[in-house]
Parts: sequence; C-alpha cells; structure tokens
Amino acid sequence: MKKIEWRTTVEEWEGVESLSTLDRELMDSATAGLKNAYAPYSGFRVSAAIRMKSGKIVVGTNQENAAYPSGLCAERVAFFAASSTHPNEEIIAVAITAQSELFSVDHPIAPCGACRQVMLEYELKQENNIRVILKGAKGKIYTLADIKGLLPLYFHEEGLKKGE
Ligand code: THU
Repeated sequence: MKKIEWRTTVEEWEGVESLSTLDRELMDSATAGLKNAYAPYSGFRVSAAIRMKSGKIVVGTNQENAAYPSGLCAERVAFFAASSTHPNEEIIAVAITAQSELFSVDHPIAPCGACRQVMLEYELKQENNIRVILKGAKGKIYTLADIKGLLPLYFHEEGLKKGE
C-alpha cells in the first residue's frame, strides 16, 4: 500500500481592492451580472464571469425552473455559453459570486461538484489552466490557479472520445 496525496493551494484576499486589476475587473463583471440571475425559488443568485483570451467577458447566471432539476447553475450557463459562442477560444479565468435574499453570503461561494466537472472539461480541452476567483456578497476572496485544484481524483476518460 502507498498513500497518494493531492494538494490544492488557495490564495485568500481581504477584498476586491486587494485583487489584481484583471481579477477585480472580472469579479466586478460577475457582480454586475447578479441582477440577471433568475432565482425565484431559492432567492440565491449566482453569477459567473469568464475572461476569454481575446479579452471578451462572458457572463452566466443561475436560471431556475418550477421543475427544480431543470434549472441550471451560473457556472454551467457561463461555460456552455462561452463554448457555444467562442468554441475555439481559450478561457483564461472565471470569477464566481453570489448573494441571497435570505441571508448574508459572507464567505467565498464554491462551485457545486457538477459545475467543477464541467469547468474541468474545458480546462483539459484547452490544455491551459483556468484561473478561479471566488467571492461571496462580502468577506474574503479565494483565488486558485486552476480548476483541477477544485476537483481531485476527477473523472477523465480519454477513451470516451470518438474518432481520435
Ligand atoms: N447554484 C449555482 O448557480 N452554482 C453553484 O455552484 C451552486 C448552486 C445555484 C443553483 C440554484 O439556482 C441556487 O444556486 C441554489 O442552489
């Protein structure tokens, strides 16, 4: 038996003022997008802003549905939109934030497992890391150098790809 360990480094920042200009600008875009979330059932608005290599920013927000499972998280809305509109362009970074009508989100919002798997797909596809910036409505901010750090022992099966 041998033990295998994974290590993830998270950088913690005091607030948006302490971020780099690029990170802050992307987080500002995510925050501005919160108003477009459609969250009448949970009252929990999430927004994800993606910076493409061209500098273009694509924003996605959570979209809920009366048939609850038919809704979709902000991260998947954003990544699917980015890949649909800029299929061959590299993704540089994603900033994610959230706010609630019911409580104060005072810690960095972390993406759900399904969104981690989806974001990872694009990081593996482009063979370049995607920077991650996570923020609540207030409080500290976390940054990570890549999506892989969010999903140790991720599902990844090259053999599933057809025609290669
Ligand atoms: N949600 C996201 O948009 N992203 C996540 O990573 C987790 C949860 C949304 C889904 C739902 O609309 C609301 O937050 C409450 O779960």
